[in-house]
Amino acid sequence: MALSQDEMKQQVAEAALEYVESGMIVGIGTGSTANHFIDGLAKMKGKIDGTVASSEASAERLRGHGIEVMELNAVGNIPLYVDGADESNKYLHLIKGGGGALTREKIVAAAAEKFVCIADESKLVDMLGAFPLPIEVIPMARSYVARQLVKLGGEPVYREGFVTDNGNIILDIHNMEILNPVELEVTLNSIVGVVTNGLFAQRPADVLLLGTQDGVRSIT
Ligand code: A5P
Repeated sequence: MALSQDEMKQQVAEAALEYVESGMIVGIGTGSTANHFIDGLAKMKGKIDGTVASSEASAERLRGHGIEVMELNAVGNIPLYVDGADESNKYLHLIKGGGGALTREKIVAAAAEKFVCIADESKLVDMLGAFPLPIEVIPMARSYVARQLVKLGGEPVYREGFVTDNGNIILDIHNMEILNPVELEVTLNSIVGVVTNGLFAQRPADVLLLGTQDGVRSIT
């Protein structure tokens, strides 16, 4: 019987548990795939020293399992970060932020030695951009930033009723051709008022574990 998308997410989350070593502080992503990872981690919580969470939602789930959540400022380097993605290309450049947690995710990814991305096979694409690219924006800069995004060829859409964990808003850019993710990430970051964009290309994933109908595929 064919695996559902959720079963594939669970499969990769379990595969990512193999990267967890004794005494580690583990960076934890956000989303349904990361939630499977958190649930799996709960079964081996005695093995790790603690976690750093990329969102309030993940922190709450971790604490619910009795797993310690630490402040990033209280720990040094994080040996391992495990998180999902909305899209990945074969270079492991990602679009993230569908759940709105992109800024904290990018911070934890930056602080991590190894970033293991976990996703079902539908997330692997030839070119990034079919998934609307999330941009976290300081609220007062919303209209200004939106106009700059239009000049870059995108169609920004305000994510109604959504406030990030940092108190900001999200603009999702639709119909943007992302030919050079590394360059576009820098360009978007240079717009005043932008906190972070959902391109993870300057710091891509190190390993992509993809859940497929034939088992877990690892791309490095
Ligand atoms: C959260 O802000 C996102 O970056 C998630 O990592 C992404 O949306 C993947 O979510 P799922 O694991 O729910 O597909």
